[in-house]
Amino acid sequence: MVNSQEILKIKDLEKSFDGVPVLNRLTLTVKRGEVLVVIGPSGCGKSTLLRCLNGLEPVNGGQIVFEGQILTSFQTSWSRVRQRIGMVFQNYELFPHFNVLENILLGPVRVQGRKKSEALEKAEFWLNRVGLWDRRESFPRQLSGGQKQRVAIVRALAMDPEIMLFDEVTASLDPEMVREVLDVILNLAKEGLTMIIVTHEMAFARAVADRIIFIDQGVIVEDSPPETFFENPATDRARRFLNIFQFDGVQRGSRGTGPKTVPVRL
Ligand SMILES: Nc1ncnc2c1ncn2[C@@H]1O[C@H](COP(=O)(O)OP(=O)(O)O)[C@@H](O)[C@H]1O
Ligand SMILES: [Mg+2]
Repeated sequence: MVNSQEILKIKDLEKSFDGVPVLNRLTLTVKRGEVLVVIGPSGCGKSTLLRCLNGLEPVNGGQIVFEGQILTSFQTSWSRVRQRIGMVFQNYELFPHFNVLENILLGPVRVQGRKKSEALEKAEFWLNRVGLWDRRESFPRQLSGGQKQRVAIVRALAMDPEIMLFDEVTASLDPEMVREVLDVILNLAKEGLTMIIVTHEMAFARAVADRIIFIDQGVIVEDSPPETFFENPATDRARRFLNIFQFDGVQRGSRGTGPKTVPVRL
């Protein structure tokens, strides 16, 4: 039976590389409008999880159900699914020989077959929202990392996805550009877009998340509201992980500084 509140259901997901298990019967349900932040040590399987949700990695077992449709089936048309589950990567992955607008219109016009005028209107809307309409004719090489990442987000949004996946989208950015990208995501969260976000930006995680998932060795070891996770993590593993971030000044206990002072651009 389809539960209308549930947009995504992952059950006993298994993924291994060369016989080495990376996701270990991972089970997770995401509700419509929910913002899930995935945290965990490097190599624990965060990117692999997102890549499985988008069909970029075949799975070895278990089930992914999206809006009642079983994605872990040989019949799945991943190009269709990717129009509904958008993904943004650490390294932008813009087409270097296309300008900003061309990068954005490619999906809606070429892949989805929408009218160009309609797609253009939407592109203008989103580019204005992220402050980049005046850069629409620039090529990726002419943009800063933060600008490229905002374009990559708009490119994904231009397809009207029902879920957005973000994989460490600020990890390659200089510190002064991190904020401009996080602001965009914070605003999408406020508008109720369902998102799964992998990040190491702890203050941002706390501000944006409805729920924090902590993964260790391919298993979810904590699944809690952000306050609980940051102030009173249930496992030693998460506690140790969070201690690393204490030196960044964005650790648990930095209440009142991080989240609420993030200026909102949009
Ligand atoms: N294409 C691949 N081939 C072989 N091993 C991989 C591949 N992708 C990821 N892995 C391995 O799977 C594990 C999880 O990787 P990943 O999901 O990228 O971790 P995270 O994103 O949490 O840092 C790591 O040990 C990594 O080396
Ligand atoms: Mg990763």
